[in-house]
Amino acid sequence: MDIISPVAWSYAQQHSSDPDPLLQEIERYTMLHHAESHMLSGKLQGQFLSLFSRLVQPVTILEIGTFTGYSALCLAKGLRAEGILHTIELREKEAVVAKGFFDRSPFAKQIQLHVGDARTVLAGLKGTWDLVFMDADKVSYIDYFNIVLPSLRPGGFILADNVFFHGQVFDEAPKGKNAKAIADFNSHVRNCQDVEVLMLPIRDGISVIQKK
Ligand SMILES: C[S@@+](CC[C@H](N)C(=O)[O-])C[C@H]1O[C@@H](n2cnc3c(N)ncnc32)[C@H](O)[C@@H]1O
Repeated sequence: MDIISPVAWSYAQQHSSDPDPLLQEIERYTMLHHAESHMLSGKLQGQFLSLFSRLVQPVTILEIGTFTGYSALCLAKGLRAEGILHTIELREKEAVVAKGFFDRSPFAKQIQLHVGDARTVLAGLKGTWDLVFMDADKVSYIDYFNIVLPSLRPGGFILADNVFFHGQVFDEAPKGKNAKAIADFNSHVRNCQDVEVLMLPIRDGISVIQKK
């Protein structure tokens, strides 16, 4: 299903600034070498993440779901000089690729990559988050939200990706387990009294969630 009109998407791509050469290289590398290259945020979403991060100017960023490192490097563009970005990836192979790109970026010293299941890694991370990007296994979104919310600073943001889940959540009774999980997550966030949420129709849907 085309959620966004391909014509509008292509026009928006053409009239948006290009990502830097390293981001373009990560996208090319991922398309050539990874069977799941569609998971990478890509130009428009990546530029949105960078712009959002530059507006927030976070000291602490948490990303759940590194993949080949594209979105982490987009988010890092808004980090303050003393800031740090923690990113979590389950799969060793993807983490090695991401680390190679991080090391070649201006943010090598500011990005801490954790390899392992996000729940386990999160249990060992202390501190307060200014900005969180959730982009890992969809069935865990509610858990990640509940784990992260207490350590999000008031006024801080969670960006949750794939909240349309390829349009499958538009059905009254979504069928697959991922679509159901995302539909439940969307209702959970909408009903949570501790946050404000704005769902944006960018790519596969991004919810911008602000803690009150
Ligand atoms: C959609 S991709 C992330 C894409 C990346 N954020 C980007 O925009 O380029 C999701 C990633 O989450 C990872 N992942 C899945 N389950 C996870 C878990 N339980 N803990 C940590 N990472 C997980 C996957 O291995 C995959 O690399």
